[in-house]
Amino acid sequence: MFQCFLGFVYLSAVSQLASLTGAQAECPVQLNPQRAFVRYNGSVAVNCSTSVSHKGIGWEASEGAVVKTRDSLITWRVSHLTEWDIRPVCYINREGQCVVELPVIIYKTPDSVSISIVNHTGPMIAGRQYELQCDVHDVAPVQNLTVKWYKGQTLLDQTTFTEDSKTPVNVNPSVLIRPDRDDDGAQYKCEAELDLGAEGPQPPPKKTSGHLNVELHYKPKHSKSTETIIQKDVVMLNCMVKANPAPVYKWHSDHLKVDISSSVLQSSTLSPGNYMCNATNYLGTDTKVFIIESYVVYLQHFLFNCFSLSALNMFQHFFGFVYLSAVSKLVSLTGTQDECPIQLSQQRVVVRYGGSVEVNCNTSISHKRIGWEASEGAVHRARDSLITWRVSHLTEWDIQPFCYINRERQCQVELPVTVYKTPDNVSISIVNHTGPMIEGQQYELQCDVHDVAPVQNLTVKWYKGQTLLDQTTFTEDSKTPVNVNTTLLIRPDRDDDGAQYWCEAQLDLGEEGPQPPPKETSDPLNITVYYKPKHSKSTETIIQKDEVTLNCTVKANPAPVYTWYSDHLKEEISSSVLQSSTLSPGNYTCNATNYLGTDTKVFIFESTGPGYYMCIATNSK
Ligand SMILES: *[C@@H]1O[C@H](CO)[C@@H](O)[C@H](O)[C@H]1NC(C)=O
Ligand SMILES: *[C@@H]1O[C@H](CO)[C@@H](O)[C@H](O)[C@H]1NC(C)=O
Ligand SMILES: *[C@@H]1O[C@H](CO)[C@@H](O)[C@H](O)[C@H]1NC(C)=O
Ligand SMILES: *[C@@H]1O[C@H](CO)[C@@H](O)[C@H](O)[C@H]1NC(C)=O
Ligand SMILES: *[C@@H]1O[C@H](CO)[C@@H](O)[C@H](O)[C@H]1NC(C)=O
Ligand SMILES: *[C@@H]1O[C@H](CO)[C@@H](O)[C@H](O)[C@H]1NC(C)=O
Ligand SMILES: *[C@@H]1O[C@H](CO)[C@@H](O)[C@H](O)[C@H]1NC(C)=O
Ligand SMILES: *[C@@H]1O[C@H](CO)[C@@H](O)[C@H](O)[C@H]1NC(C)=O
Ligand SMILES: *[C@@H]1O[C@H](CO)[C@@H](O)[C@H](O)[C@H]1NC(C)=O
Ligand SMILES: *[C@@H]1O[C@H](CO)[C@@H](O)[C@H](O)[C@H]1NC(C)=O
Ligand SMILES: *[C@@H]1O[C@H](CO)[C@@H](O)[C@H](O)[C@H]1NC(C)=O
Ligand SMILES: *[C@@H]1O[C@H](CO)[C@@H](O)[C@H](O)[C@H]1NC(C)=O
Repeated sequence: MFQCFLGFVYLSAVSQLASLTGAQAECPVQLNPQRAFVRYNGSVAVNCSTSVSHKGIGWEASEGAVVKTRDSLITWRVSHLTEWDIRPVCYINREGQCVVELPVIIYKTPDSVSISIVNHTGPMIAGRQYELQCDVHDVAPVQNLTVKWYKGQTLLDQTTFTEDSKTPVNVNPSVLIRPDRDDDGAQYKCEAELDLGAEGPQPPPKKTSGHLNVELHYKPKHSKSTETIIQKDVVMLNCMVKANPAPVYKWHSDHLKVDISSSVLQSSTLSPGNYMCNATNYLGTDTKVFIIESYVVYLQHFLFNCFSLSALNMFQHFFGFVYLSAVSKLVSLTGTQDECPIQLSQQRVVVRYGGSVEVNCNTSISHKRIGWEASEGAVHRARDSLITWRVSHLTEWDIQPFCYINRERQCQVELPVTVYKTPDNVSISIVNHTGPMIEGQQYELQCDVHDVAPVQNLTVKWYKGQTLLDQTTFTEDSKTPVNVNTTLLIRPDRDDDGAQYWCEAQLDLGEEGPQPPPKETSDPLNITVYYKPKHSKSTETIIQKDEVTLNCTVKANPAPVYTWYSDHLKEEISSSVLQSSTLSPGNYTCNATNYLGTDTKVFIFESTGPGYYMCIATNSK
């Protein structure tokens, strides 16, 4: 009995030695499972079995210890495991005793996960920067925690932790955002996920914060700053524009006796001329100019243009048509287009700039003339039932073709055309910075997209490796190519050393557009991150064997230099590893230093007392 008791007392020390010297492999017991994943305060059962004959088999642990004399299988079972640092071992006694340690990973999902804005209340303002914080309470083990940030369904960023702790901790990572006008009403959230590897619980346990709804203030911005209106019976000038807070409107014109403050100006008595409308909220004013042209002037213009383009006899030949088409434009403004009995083979077309296009126009009724009117590819016929608009190199950005037929009157159907151009060049750069980045500091990346159209169909996406970080769309409205840039704020950490950032410009042109949507990618931007040394543990206890190795090696960029000191060393030593068979027991301190800082680690080098050897001797009798 006494021998047995002594055996237990020293078991844990023995097992440590056993695993250090590799004797574990020779102990003829099997654990099932070989590693235990246990939810904190959850239950666990692990079998230890042997096929050899023995004098005793048992589990030694601070909870659930059990001993049997003859059985070949014994179960360690705890129904509410609440000890964070439990190290159960299974042993058998034969001539001597041997043990196998069971690795136990205890995890705990956070009690709460919440998201908030740092130092800010009330609405955000478009284009300014804000910091979001995620508070995660009481989670373990933190080295397996990932906090993911979402805007709606889009993953914005994710944070991992370099701390190493078996017991629960609180963490509060943050991200920087710079919302734009499209983000009004966006919902942000963060999610804490414990990823314990393939053997761990599946799916990985996670907990999500509530939604943080962002109310965003932004100024008015019309998609076009001028608009020309042809005068008919009643004209309506609509200045309405989205903004938050809602804008107030002010109209001004030489033709108005007083300034008017409604969003829409509607009247049958407005004279031709310019009308200026200001939409204003506290963030700014946007001005839109409406040009009312008299119908008579419009018609003259139209005739004049055709006249100057064509020879006089052509003009005479086509006079009827030209006039009618101007009339038809008026007709279409007043809404009779729906009744025109012609079919187009495509309702809309999307064409690459310089590409070819072909659309048929077809009618089943008798008529005097059918044709396509367009600034490129116009064509007219007397009696055909089908006529094709065909351009082999389309180079007009603002083409507005329509197909018409003449019967008693003329009617027409317009073909909406989107001309697109993929960017000449997409490039990524760091704003105002060269050389390595420093962990924890903030940098701005810029993506430049050259010569792309139409910008309202462009999406610029940001990636780190394969992770989508953010995406931007554009509120400008332009048929011709433009250059645009977007920026992204990052705050790299040590895991980002060597990360590749890149951006991608994609044109989403709808169902009629090319599939998959054309995209152009920047070269990757490799970043170097400088960070200071940080050991995962600041102390380590080493038990003496023949030769001892104190290993202070730690990752840092630039690589650290090492300094060892101890009462037991005659002089300071500067290598990363201290390896010797002659070190005396005691404390050895190592500093790892680069220009960003120093991290100190203490190695407590213990000798094991003679009692340990006595125990082995007792047991083996
Ligand atoms: C463990 O769970 C039991 C019941 O599920 C509960 O009564 C007990 O308070 C819990 N203990 C701890 C430390 O959470
Ligand atoms: C442990 O052993 C018992 C009894 O043989 C068996 O019912 C159980 O399924 C075993 N558990 C595992 C995890 O192998
Ligand atoms: C929040 O604001 C207070 C007072 O203005 C300031 O002292 C503190 O540093 C700010 N905290 C952060 C994280 O910006
Ligand atoms: C997560 O935990 C498991 C088990 O403790 C470990 O093997 C794995 O390396 C950890 N993964 C990370 C990313 O820390
Ligand atoms: C409209 O806004 C412009 C630019 O802010 C300003 O110069 C002009 O005076 C404003 N006009 C009216 C009528 O408020
Ligand atoms: C870049 O640096 C220059 C000079 O230091 C400064 O004038 C400019 O405002 C900076 N630009 C940005 C976007 O920070
Ligand atoms: C980025 O685009 C804005 C307009 O959107 C322009 O004013 C600015 O000059 C551009 N910046 C660079 C560095 O090209
Ligand atoms: C993209 O272009 C197509 C065709 O011009 C249009 O119908 C669609 O609404 C556009 N999509 C966006 C998101 O602007
Ligand atoms: C960026 O990193 C990749 C792989 O890590 C490498 O192949 C490439 O040459 C690097 N590019 C530059 C410009 O350093
Ligand atoms: C010291 O540790 C580092 C990393 O942990 C390892 O690469 C290296 O081989 C170790 N050196 C010795 C002598 O054990
Ligand atoms: C060694 O370090 C440990 C922990 O830092 C401390 O408790 C102990 O007193 C130290 N021993 C000596 C001999 O300095
Ligand atoms: C080790 O680092 C600590 C903390 O920076 C410092 O106080 C100490 O003087 C350093 N020791 C040596 C020998 O460099």
